[in-house]
Amino acid sequence: MSPSKRPQIVTDVVEVTEADGERHAAFVTEGDEPALAIDDPRLDPFRPDPDVVKLYVSRNMPNGQTDVDYLMRQWRKRRNVSLVGDTQGGKTMLVSVLACRIGEELGIGMPVPIFLLSASNGITDFDLFGQVTAWTDPDTGRECLVWLPGICSLAAKVGGILYLDEMNMMLERVTSSINPMADWRRTFINRNKAVRVDGDGFMPEVVKLNPLTWLVGTMNPGYRGAGPLNQAFANRFKTFDWKYNESVERKLIPNEAVRALGDALRQARALGTIKTPVGTAALMEMSNDVAEDGVEMGIYVLRSMMESEDDKLKLDEIIEARSFRHLLNNAAQGAHPLAGSGEDALNEDDPFG
Ligand SMILES: Nc1ncnc2c1ncn2[C@@H]1O[C@H](COP(=O)(O)OP(=O)(O)O)[C@@H](O)[C@H]1O
Ligand SMILES: [Mg+2]
Repeated sequence: MSPSKRPQIVTDVVEVTEADGERHAAFVTEGDEPALAIDDPRLDPFRPDPDVVKLYVSRNMPNGQTDVDYLMRQWRKRRNVSLVGDTQGGKTMLVSVLACRIGEELGIGMPVPIFLLSASNGITDFDLFGQVTAWTDPDTGRECLVWLPGICSLAAKVGGILYLDEMNMMLERVTSSINPMADWRRTFINRNKAVRVDGDGFMPEVVKLNPLTWLVGTMNPGYRGAGPLNQAFANRFKTFDWKYNESVERKLIPNEAVRALGDALRQARALGTIKTPVGTAALMEMSNDVAEDGVEMGIYVLRSMMESEDDKLKLDEIIEARSFRHLLNNAAQGAHPLAGSGEDALNEDDPFG
């Protein structure tokens, strides 16, 4: 896109006088500046790496379709969806894969941007809707006021995915601001942004969602500080349980004893005896650690990840009680993990040792 065709964000320059009498140039923006096109290179920082598609292992939905094929059908209807599951189960990765698939379907030759609103960091209206902020022109050193768009405003204007991560951590104040965007109105009122109207003054900006904008949320049911999601908001999303998936993990975690240990730890967590969630990624890591650096290293890293001393002790107990050292070792050596102890297994390099 040539510079002359760039959307004009700044529409007017005025002078402002500060309390100390100093005068600055200030920029004034209009409410209806043209949006960036969904394939604008300036949105590239919001696009996921397309290689994620090669790394992602799909799960099957109950209708037999892969998760990606099924969720693409939801995208075509712009049905808001939310995925509910513990940490490190591939939710964020899946959203990135979907961004790639949507880009393909739109024929833009690149993933659509993902506008991330991360609830665990705390969200203000400024994050959602934008704010006026000071900006120093690097060429002139001159400071001026500019309008910095919010994540919702960007998603609304550009299209792409508005990704509400950990949305059960959002305060009701925030979800109620997003509500009108998430239902048939597909509109929101930008209370922070003044738009000049004919006659006498200004109004808040009313933003209509781009037809391409799609809302996707994820929720982590076990998170500290996360209450049940505000019902009015939750009802606006089609919700899917996103537990750790056995057949996905069989492909990603070659060491079957690591998978068995993962199951044991998750059962302990379901019973409340440990608190630390053990995600798919942690088990992938352990499987690699065991293969590269041996069983003790694998256990040490997993143990380090446990959030409390109690959980570490409980892990030790599970490992001892069920002879996981032997199982892990056997599985790493390619023997059936239940076949004898690691010490008994035949060492091909030193069969008489
Ligand atoms: N289905 C999957 N396919 C490939 N890798 C996965 C999958 N699920 C989880 N992972 C691994 O786990 C990591 C964390 O996944 P992530 O998407 O961040 O989980 P979540 O958002 O559910 O916390 C990924 O970077 C990847 O290494
Ligand atoms: Mg995530």
